[in-house]
Amino acid sequence: MAGLKVLFATSEAAPLIKTGGLGDVSGALPAALRAIGVDVRVLLPGYRQVIAQLAQHKVVATFDTLSGFPSARLLSAVTANDVPLLILDCPSLYQREGGPYQDAKGQDWPDNPQRFGLLSKIAAVLGSSASPLDWHPDLVHCNDWQTGLTPAYLRFAQGAVPSVFTIHNMAFQGNYAPAILRELRLPPSCFGIDGVEFYGHMSFLKAGLFYADHITTVSPNYAKEIQQAELGFGMQGLLTKRSGDLNGILNGIDTDEWNPATDKHLVKKFSVARMAGKAADKEYLQCRLGLDIVPDVPLLGVISRFTHQKGLDLLLEVAPQLIGLPAQLAMLGSGEAQMQQAARNLSQRYPGKVGVNIGFSEALAHQIEAGADIFIMPSRFEPCGLNQLYSQCYGTPPVVHATGGLVDSVVDCTAETLKDGSASGFVFKGMSAENLFATIQRSVDLYHDQRKWKALRRNCMTKDFSWKASAEAYRAVYLKVLGR
Ligand code: ADP
Ligand code: GLC
Repeated sequence: MAGLKVLFATSEAAPLIKTGGLGDVSGALPAALRAIGVDVRVLLPGYRQVIAQLAQHKVVATFDTLSGFPSARLLSAVTANDVPLLILDCPSLYQREGGPYQDAKGQDWPDNPQRFGLLSKIAAVLGSSASPLDWHPDLVHCNDWQTGLTPAYLRFAQGAVPSVFTIHNMAFQGNYAPAILRELRLPPSCFGIDGVEFYGHMSFLKAGLFYADHITTVSPNYAKEIQQAELGFGMQGLLTKRSGDLNGILNGIDTDEWNPATDKHLVKKFSVARMAGKAADKEYLQCRLGLDIVPDVPLLGVISRFTHQKGLDLLLEVAPQLIGLPAQLAMLGSGEAQMQQAARNLSQRYPGKVGVNIGFSEALAHQIEAGADIFIMPSRFEPCGLNQLYSQCYGTPPVVHATGGLVDSVVDCTAETLKDGSASGFVFKGMSAENLFATIQRSVDLYHDQRKWKALRRNCMTKDFSWKASAEAYRAVYLKVLGR
C-alpha cells in the first residue's frame, strides 16, 4: 500500500539478537511487510551484540534532554534482508555482558523498567510531532511488555499516531512497583484500573493492552484463550472488554532461514521430492549428540526453553518409557536449573539413547529439526509456537498439546485426516504424562508403517507457512486502525 509507514518496536530481532520466537517474528515479519509494500522500520535496543554486528551505521538523532532518561542516540542501519533499522544506542542501559533481559546468571536486570521504559518512550517520540526524524510513521506497532508503555506515552503526546500492540506471551508482563510510573514520567492519573495499574503494580503489559488502538496476538486460538481465566493471566476482563479490537494472526516462517532445501546448517539438504538427505542429517545428529547410530529407531527432537510453560517436566517424566519403545531423544535448551539437571541425568543414565545439549545453538536447532523423525512440544500453553512450524517444513511431524497456536497449526493424524491429506502431526488433549506418552507411542507406531509415514511427511512439507498471508492480515489491521 503506497504511503503506509510503520515503526515496528521490539526488544529482539533475529539474527541480530534472539532469545525465542519474538526474535524470529521481528526478524521476518518486517521483511514480509516490506515485500507487500509497507514501509516498515524496526526500532531495537543497541545491545552489545547488536552494536558489534552493525557493519555500517549513521547517527540520525540524539536525545539529550528527555526528562527522566539518560542521553541516547538513534543509529540507522539496514539488516541483511534490507529492512531499515533504528538502533537505540544508550550504553549505560544496553551495552553489557549478558542477555537482553537477564544477566549471565539468569537474573533479570534490575533496571529493566528503565531499559524498556526508554525503548517505549523513544518509540512514542518517533510516533509523535516531537520526532527528530524526517521519516514519520503512520502507526507504531509494539510487541510484548517491553514496548507496552509506548501506547501510554502516545496517549499523552502531541500529534501522536495510533498504535497496534501484539501479544507474544501473556505470561511476561513487566510488573513493577508503582513508583516506577513517576520515574518514567507517566502522569499519576494513569495509575488506575483504567490505565497501567494491575493488582497494585504498574504493568507494562497492561499499559499496552489498555492504551493501544488495536491488539493482536499470534494465533486465532490464543486470542480466544486469553479472554478466559485459565490463560488470561489476570487480564481476561480487559481483553474481553476489548474483544472488538483484538484478533489473532498466526505467525509464519522465514523461508530463507528455515528451508531444508537451502539450510546452511545441514550436512545434507533435502526437499519433499528428494528426501534422501534427511537420513544423513539424522546420522550427523546422532553423532553430534553421542547417540547410537541406528537408522530404524525413531529419533525424538526437542528444542525449548526449559520452563513450566513448555511442559518439559512431563517429557522428562516419560523419557524412560520412551527409551523403552524404543526411541532416542535429542534435546536442546536451557532454563530452570532443576529441569536442566534432570535432562543431564537422563543422558547419563541412558548413554547412546538420550543426547542433551544445555545452551543456545542456532545451528543445532536447525540440525535437530532436520535430523529428528518426530518433534515433541508438550506446551501447557503456547501463544503460537514456531518449532512445530519448522518441524513440519523439515518433514518431522510434531507431537503437540492441544493449546494456543499448536491447535491452529497442527492437524491430528487419524485414518481420515491421513486420507484427505490434512494430517500433519499428533495432538493430545489433557495435559498429563499418560496422554503425552500415549500420543508419542501413536506417532512411533505410525513411524514404523513406512507408507503412511511418508504420506504424513509429505503433507507436512507441502503446507504453506510462509509469512505472506499473515503480513497481509497485519496490513489489514493497520488500515483498519487508520480508517483507510
Ligand atoms: P518461545 O518464543 O516461547 O520460546 P517459539 O516456538 O515461538 O517459542 O520460538 C522459539 C524459537 O527459539 C525457535 O526459533 C527455536 O528454535 C529457538 N530456540 C529455543 N531454544 C533454543 C536453543 N536452546 N537454541 C537455539 N534455538 C532455540
Ligand atoms: C512467544 C510465545 C510463542 C510465540 C512467540 C512468537 O515467545 O511463547 O508461542 O511463537 O512468542 O510470537
